[in-house]
Amino acid sequence: MTPAQHVRNGWYLGAWSDEIGRTLKQRWITDLPVCFYRLPDQTVTAVEDRCPHRKYPLSLGHLDDDGTLQCDYHGYRFDGRGVCVGVAEQADKPKAALRRFPLVERDGAVWIWPGDPELADESLLPDTSWLNDPNWTHVHGVVPLKARHLLLLENLLDLTHETFLHPSSIGNAAVAATPIDVTVDGDRVGFSRRMTGIEAPPFYEKSCGLTSPVDRWQDGDFHPPGIFVLNIRVAATGTEEPDGFHMKVLYGMTPGRGNETHDFYALGRDYLIDDQELTKFQHEQQLAVMQEDVDALEAQEIMYATDPGGTAESSIKSDLAALRGRRAVAKMLTREQQAGGSRPRASA
Ligand code: FES
Ligand SMILES: [Fe+2]
Repeated sequence: MTPAQHVRNGWYLGAWSDEIGRTLKQRWITDLPVCFYRLPDQTVTAVEDRCPHRKYPLSLGHLDDDGTLQCDYHGYRFDGRGVCVGVAEQADKPKAALRRFPLVERDGAVWIWPGDPELADESLLPDTSWLNDPNWTHVHGVVPLKARHLLLLENLLDLTHETFLHPSSIGNAAVAATPIDVTVDGDRVGFSRRMTGIEAPPFYEKSCGLTSPVDRWQDGDFHPPGIFVLNIRVAATGTEEPDGFHMKVLYGMTPGRGNETHDFYALGRDYLIDDQELTKFQHEQQLAVMQEDVDALEAQEIMYATDPGGTAESSIKSDLAALRGRRAVAKMLTREQQAGGSRPRASA
């Protein structure tokens, strides 16, 4: 397990679109303070949340109707490109510009690239069109996590833990008893698990009106450094896979400050999309499951933080995808460090 050091040359989920408006929002991302806001034309922008004058958080300042951002300590003012356009105390404009981060707003999500802006490549983002597809419905949000992002990553790449950590909702003995197939494609890591003729876990029983036995399929895809997409199907045993009930879960595992992580989630389905009761049930279940994970990961974080490089870890076959994911992130970090560090350059 690496210490808290984060890959910056990669996309992270920075915010949901509905979190960002004409007020200033601070969120720490890969140990950088970021201030998000919308310009008058509704474009989202993100700048480093440290005033170039004396480092006061710009998110404690205010935004004028024309999109000018003012630091409310000594009054530096910045235009929509982050360039200082004046300060009340003197006629000359101070020479200062804010670091702006590459952003992509798509399907209700705001993706941020905290590293070198020249490397920001939109093609590395996963397909999120289902978040904006009228044939789908979804719920989304973000949960705070006091644990390093690698622990969350390994949690998601090793779903055998569902058996033990989530036995009252999505887990049962079949998950841990069924091996996974792992695929590695460049930095990406995928896994799949096929469970046939198993007992229906309570969440799927209620969500899909199914009784045992059922078939269940899990296909996970990790887009390093911080995006995970899970395709889930469940069906009465004997149903062909494409005909099963289809759900997707997107996780944005975004490192915050130190060993804290923003645990973004979206849970979607392509059936009974107008059923509000079902949406409410699924959202409550999603949050309950995530809380079980948060409790476990925060307990685990204390053990890693107090034993850096100490006790050896033991691993088993079902750790394979998680270990591949860990390795992919470590390789990205090494590449970034060899290329000259991860300090982002100004894009203004
Ligand atoms: S710290 Fe921002 S104007 Fe002084
Ligand atoms: Fe979990």
